[in-house]
Amino acid sequence: MRMRAKKWVKPELEICPYYIQNPLPLRGQWRSLFPKEQPFHVELGCGKGFATAKMARETPEVNFLAVDLCSTVLGVARRNIAAQYGEDPVDNIRLTHFNIMWASRFLAAEDRVDRIYIQFCNPWNQKASQHKRRLTHPRQLMQYREFLTEDAEIWFKTDDDPLFAASQEYFAACGFQEKYVTLDLHASGFSPNFVSEHEKLYADQGVPIKFGVYQKKPLPADFVLPE
Ligand SMILES: C[S@@+](CC[C@H](N)C(=O)[O-])C[C@H]1O[C@@H](n2cnc3c(N)ncnc32)[C@H](O)[C@@H]1O
Repeated sequence: MRMRAKKWVKPELEICPYYIQNPLPLRGQWRSLFPKEQPFHVELGCGKGFATAKMARETPEVNFLAVDLCSTVLGVARRNIAAQYGEDPVDNIRLTHFNIMWASRFLAAEDRVDRIYIQFCNPWNQKASQHKRRLTHPRQLMQYREFLTEDAEIWFKTDDDPLFAASQEYFAACGFQEKYVTLDLHASGFSPNFVSEHEKLYADQGVPIKFGVYQKKPLPADFVLPE
């Protein structure tokens, strides 16, 4: 459901030192924005940032970029981050507003992304013609390959069975090796797991959370991009 606009979002984001209004000029330079040179993880479709805030706070040895299409949810994410960090400086997170369908417009190979998180993206199950809008569709995975380091990982979580099944095929077809998969993340004992807003919503309804870790491998010489 679309979130209603909130008056406080724009002024709060405008003065937020870790909110990036326009990510395009930073393409290829994201790592230089952080005080410490350390692994760089990107969360695609972070929503209200519940998982982002906890993950970044508990993993100070990693730099995070959290991206979403909707500036209203980013305003809520900023508040969640501020609540986690309290008086401490927020030095390992950057937030930005962009359409991930065009991720390679603001991320380049020089950004050397070590991990991507995709959590509860829209499954686009209604029509086959919509599948290309999935954030795990081969068109997207091939874009991500451009800015992921060798052996980088994509951590993918969803409540949706058809999306998960299709995504497993997409990952395999685009040169990502399955490192870990569970059809019930919360029963699996996998750790660390930072619970997102939608994850809690579905888990509270008893829906098992599907989760996989996929590692980038070189493409075979005879690689053909799947439809
Ligand atoms: C269902 S919510 C999940 C939010 C969060 N990851 C969670 O697990 O609670 C999907 C989020 O992805 C964002 N989103 C969907 N398509 C996007 C796109 N093409 N580019 C950027 N963000 C997108 C939406 O604005 C929304 O905040």
